[in-house]
Amino acid sequence: MTGGPPRPTDMSTVVRLAPAKLNLTLAVTGRRADGYHELHSVMVPLALADAVSVAPTIGPSDTLHVDGTDCGPAESNLVLRAVGEAREVARRELGPTIPLPPLACRLEKRIPVAAGLAGGSSDGAAALDAALEAWGVDVSPEGRHAAATRIGSDVAFFLAAGWALVEGRGERVVRIPSVRPPAPAVLLVTPMTPVPTPEVFAAYADGVRPLSRGSGLLASRHLADELRAGMTARALLMRAGLLAHANDLMPAAQHVVPGLVAFRRGLIRVLGTAVGQSGSGPTAWVLYPSLDEAEAAADAVRDALADGRVVAPGQGSPVVHATRLLLDPSAGSAGTAEGGFTR
Ligand code: C5P
Repeated sequence: MTGGPPRPTDMSTVVRLAPAKLNLTLAVTGRRADGYHELHSVMVPLALADAVSVAPTIGPSDTLHVDGTDCGPAESNLVLRAVGEAREVARRELGPTIPLPPLACRLEKRIPVAAGLAGGSSDGAAALDAALEAWGVDVSPEGRHAAATRIGSDVAFFLAAGWALVEGRGERVVRIPSVRPPAPAVLLVTPMTPVPTPEVFAAYADGVRPLSRGSGLLASRHLADELRAGMTARALLMRAGLLAHANDLMPAAQHVVPGLVAFRRGLIRVLGTAVGQSGSGPTAWVLYPSLDEAEAAADAVRDALADGRVVAPGQGSPVVHATRLLLDPSAGSAGTAEGGFTR
């Protein structure tokens, strides 16, 4: 990692939470001329989050210090990419002479990396926002959105700060109401094998797809309609079995990492319930009515991993998290207290 930690927190340090996301559905609806795939996905933010802080510095260039999960070289981190994009859009909109000093950035990394949880994209969205605030400048919503989309396909979702229907390559984001409280919990199990998103889409493009064509899109449209009409957490939990199959990238992820097939079967056997996949994987998810139940399931999975009833691909034991879906603060007062969006 380059650079040291920023100076101790002072008035000019801006801190942002960068939540993970979960794809409750992920339908691939086509391929564009530029090679990207068209999606239809209901995406929700999670309480599991990284923290990004930025502070103006007198150093010659932007720096990044990372604590927690290893996420590769700082130079290729989306935090630094996002600061660069923020500087570009600010100069374009506000003039080339506006002072935008280098930033010392710090990232506390808790979200597993290359896991289908969009942790890197969320860090990028948080850094874009934090950089503009640290410089005391604002840009147009269009400029901010275009910068987000240049950073990565999932970044625009995080600017929306809530539950959303995501289409296009990820750039068309429309907020939809979250379920009503209490916030459902989710168990996340992430094998220690990064699954590169481009490889998964390439396998999909080569024809590695679900047998039941179109059912992912049907489930995704249906969920978006139900949420718009007002959905209880209980109703969502009753749909969970169906949603666990509504990810068109699951066969492609299993093609890239064949060990995911036995891993998922093991989880289904131990937990006695359907198991979904977030994004391009490899994170497996199961919804629960409460955090206590998700934590009990997490313990059961840790035991099963220890005694070999669940075998995961990759080096070392999977990361197991129990967390909550973040609800729209307007979904009810309990939503704000129990799992409301905090960014
Ligand atoms: O935009 P991002 O860098 O996150 O995407 C990584 C890769 O995943 C792209 O280069 C592309 O190969 C693939 N992708 C895709 N369709 C999407 C999103 C990503 O084909 N909607």
